[in-house]
Amino acid sequence: MVIFVHYFKSDKMIFYFTGTGNSEHVAHRLADLLGENVKNIADYYDTIYKGVDIDLEGNYLGIVCPVHSWGLAKPMARFLKNCRFKGFDNQKVFCVVTCGDTCGTADKQVAELLKKYNNIVCSKVYSVQMPNTYIVMKGFGTDDKVLADQKLQNAEPEIERIAEAIKSGSDYKHYVRGKKPFLKGRILYPLFMAFTMGDKKFFAEDGCTGCGLCAKKCPEKNIVMENNRPKWLGHCVKCLSCIHRCPARAIQFGDITQDMGRYYYRKA
Ligand SMILES: Cc1cc2nc3c(=O)[nH]c(=O)nc-3n(C[C@H](O)[C@H](O)[C@H](O)COP(=O)(O)O)c2cc1C
Repeated sequence: MVIFVHYFKSDKMIFYFTGTGNSEHVAHRLADLLGENVKNIADYYDTIYKGVDIDLEGNYLGIVCPVHSWGLAKPMARFLKNCRFKGFDNQKVFCVVTCGDTCGTADKQVAELLKKYNNIVCSKVYSVQMPNTYIVMKGFGTDDKVLADQKLQNAEPEIERIAEAIKSGSDYKHYVRGKKPFLKGRILYPLFMAFTMGDKKFFAEDGCTGCGLCAKKCPEKNIVMENNRPKWLGHCVKCLSCIHRCPARAIQFGDITQDMGRYYYRKA
């Protein structure tokens, strides 16, 4: 049972989750273009399980987050379930998901969660392709530099088109669902959420300098430093912030990631 005890007076109308910075960048660009403010939902981590009331002001309610296994990243799904938007007054509602490739049914999921828990209709869901970050399964990996740069270059005008469409209310559509979206989004996504969230395979190699950046940047507070080494606490959401951002490239996931690339969003 969720008990609503926290009330946030907020003028932050674009809520985002990010692991490796792609969605953070998109949220900030949209905020600039729409004249809104942004809020990282990781800031609600300590209270979200109890439920959070958020007072809406401004002209928009925006949700930005990465696609994980053809659905929403787990923390965003949890946020949409456990927060209550107060004072909803027909603000323009939109969601932008970032993906490496295709998005499955993340659009349906966000619309269903907003409707079910806040009775808010969200019919505008867009996707922006960004460099891929999924590296913890064999057969996957980061994009090579040429492709990653190309995606980053293409993303900028796409974000502008999306902002323009949100502003004007035009029926511009850009959402890349991919093949077999229902199989992926409705069957593989729940399996992924149920069975692949474990963090037992993460470890730090000898090159770890004990800098603690992994712990500091973990949006789930799932890492603590013990004897100058990261220790994962068992409630990982697989955003992969730790492994991609480690400045010593010392974090690995089992025997899968030794030869894989690393990526996080950096301003050019
Ligand atoms: C656990 C996980 C699952 C992912 N699943 C998908 C997917 O189903 N489809 C896709 O196109 N990209 C997928 N990606 C790639 C991310 O959606 C993409 O790189 C995103 O822009 C990362 O955003 P962030 O930097 O804000 O975390 C996945 C990444 C991770 C870490």
